Amino acid sequence: MPDELDTYYRDHWLHVEEDRMARYEAMFQWRDGYEALIAPAAIGTGQVVADYGCGPGGLAVELARRVGPSGRVLAVDINRDFLARTRALCDEQGLGDRVDARQMEGERIPVDDADVDRVVCKNVLEYVPDPEATVREFYRIVKPGGIVHVSDSDWGGVVLEPLGERFTRLMSAASVAFRTPLIARRLYGMFRSAGFEDVRVQVIANADTSGGLRGVIYNMASYARTSGKIDDAEIADFLADVDRAVEEKTFFALLPQFLVTGRK
Ligand SMILES: C[S@@+](CC[C@H](N)C(=O)[O-])C[C@H]1O[C@@H](n2cnc3c(N)ncnc32)[C@H](O)[C@@H]1O
Repeated sequence: MPDELDTYYRDHWLHVEEDRMARYEAMFQWRDGYEALIAPAAIGTGQVVADYGCGPGGLAVELARRVGPSGRVLAVDINRDFLARTRALCDEQGLGDRVDARQMEGERIPVDDADVDRVVCKNVLEYVPDPEATVREFYRIVKPGGIVHVSDSDWGGVVLEPLGERFTRLMSAASVAFRTPLIARRLYGMFRSAGFEDVRVQVIANADTSGGLRGVIYNMASYARTSGKIDDAEIADFLADVDRAVEEKTFFALLPQFLVTGRK
């Protein structure tokens, strides 16, 4: 693997090209279907909530609404542009004074010990350099009695028709974009090892028959292209088959989300 791919799992978030940014803006908007994904975090009025790996801010805005005027959201990300977009989105919605956007640099989350009531982290831990250390950081920043809630994919558990086994081939090339592609199955153990009590796991696997996950598939294709492990013509064939299946209404996909929740 060429050297620059060794850190691609991080670098592709630090430098996001325009077409990927447009896809992320669309993919990471808050939608009603996410309600179940954050429900175990039990977000309420007056809480201080850290949103770790906030992206362009769709979830942070929703959290800001839920904590109300007496609460606060600490939105953390490694990408400055995402932080600027999160600030802008919260300002647009009149929620700017409830949101504090902070850049992640190095290994320490820029939040004091026992400073927050909740940590929410959605689809981020597969990209961090050391997920065990990040989960320990979550433990450090949450108050005693507070809740840490992570929602993540497990890329070994995806079902995607019409690709069948060919998805495994696409994913094995795309895995250069992940530090820990099988993160979700490991989270329960990581939470237990970090010292959390009452660790609960729930898996939500909604069937997508309308092609809602196409943005995710196109993203995987762009990662696979970057890896150089699979040629462009083969990737174009995969995508054409996916598009055809959506048109012909035979598309079927599952991208299970593992929800892991623990109390300090
Ligand atoms: C798949 S996006 C998820 C965005 C958002 N949580 C959501 O679900 O809408 C992953 C996010 O993690 C951020 N990220 C990647 N590595 C990170 C790190 N080491 N620390 C903090 N954030 C990171 C990326 O910049 C990106 O915003």
